[in-house]
Amino acid sequence: MKIKVKNNVSFVGYIDFELDKFHGDDYSINHGSSQNSYLIEEEKTVLIDTVWVNNSEYFIENLKNEIDIKKIDLIVLNHSECDHSGALEDLMKEIPNVPIYLTDLAKKSIEGQLGEKSWDFHIVKTGDKINIGNGKELIFIDMKMLHWPDSMATYLTGDNILFSNDAFGAHYACMELFNDKADQNVLYMEAMKYFVNIINPFAFLVLKKIEEIENLKLKIDMIAPSHGVIWRENPRQIVEKYKLWSSSYKENQISIIYETMWNGTKKIAHKIAEYINIFDKNIVVKIFNISKDDKNDIMTEIFKSKAIIVGSPTCMNDILSHMSGFLTFLKCLKFKDKKAATFGCYGWSGENINILKNKLKESGFNVIDESIKPLYNPKDEDYEILPSLVENLLK
Ligand code: FEO
Repeated sequence: MKIKVKNNVSFVGYIDFELDKFHGDDYSINHGSSQNSYLIEEEKTVLIDTVWVNNSEYFIENLKNEIDIKKIDLIVLNHSECDHSGALEDLMKEIPNVPIYLTDLAKKSIEGQLGEKSWDFHIVKTGDKINIGNGKELIFIDMKMLHWPDSMATYLTGDNILFSNDAFGAHYACMELFNDKADQNVLYMEAMKYFVNIINPFAFLVLKKIEEIENLKLKIDMIAPSHGVIWRENPRQIVEKYKLWSSSYKENQISIIYETMWNGTKKIAHKIAEYINIFDKNIVVKIFNISKDDKNDIMTEIFKSKAIIVGSPTCMNDILSHMSGFLTFLKCLKFKDKKAATFGCYGWSGENINILKNKLKESGFNVIDESIKPLYNPKDEDYEILPSLVENLLK
């Protein structure tokens, strides 16, 4: 399968409709994904990135069906993570002398993963160029920490395509390949989930990096990332979204996230939601049980929220274990400029609220003092603080 992208540029990657987990089991995949590899056939034949090692056999067979792989003049490796470099070792058995263009950190990472290699590595940095014939050049752009230290992007002059690797991607298997052909709701839902769970920890670098790329004055007609669709129609739209999402993004939403033992804490979650709904019908309120709902999807909802309310009962002098793990992940994602409140039942020692508050503060949330902490099951008097809790949260 070789799908035309533009002129002599084709997609030769792997679209995986069955994938349901990524990064081990850490990232849930709801609409499949793809590992996008691109072939440029000008006077020189260029391969940009490969696929995950599990799809290596398919990838190389597919390439052999489409071209004489001995004619590949150079490989560009935009990123060393194994979903893009996984087929490299098998490919290099077939074409061992082909030069590989990559950043110095990508070379270190590749050799760290695979062992030292005698491959013909060429280290590149921002502004370095290669002439690939027919008046076209590849220009390399360092994308450090978007999202790995070794990441880079490659720009193809003439066709004006930015091969952005992970940046501007989405875990979304879309056979139609282009953004204008994709289901827009799924595309944007998955693009946001990807941004939140992968890019957001480095969001503080996104605006600077976009400005740096804009200063290169490259005309960009297409953005071709390494996952999901190619942004063909108005590629600027995903750049604008990245700018928006990198700027303390929030919608008029509150998310209530809880874990419960005997449903006391669950009752509080629902009572708070009912109250907010009466207090202000314009606010979107969503409730998630962390032990049942997907953590990556919840993180996306937290990203959209201006405030969150987090609940766990006390259990064995601590909070419940799913919540504990969830809050560790929450801290990693480095959300900014959001408020938080806490709730949860207890039976005797009652450490839950302090633990929740401390963990939320460590994660960068502005935590309000008010909380709901019933002894055993919640009673009417436990909710007397609810109006001031909501008011302070929304202030
Ligand atoms: Fe899609 Fe960072 O690999």
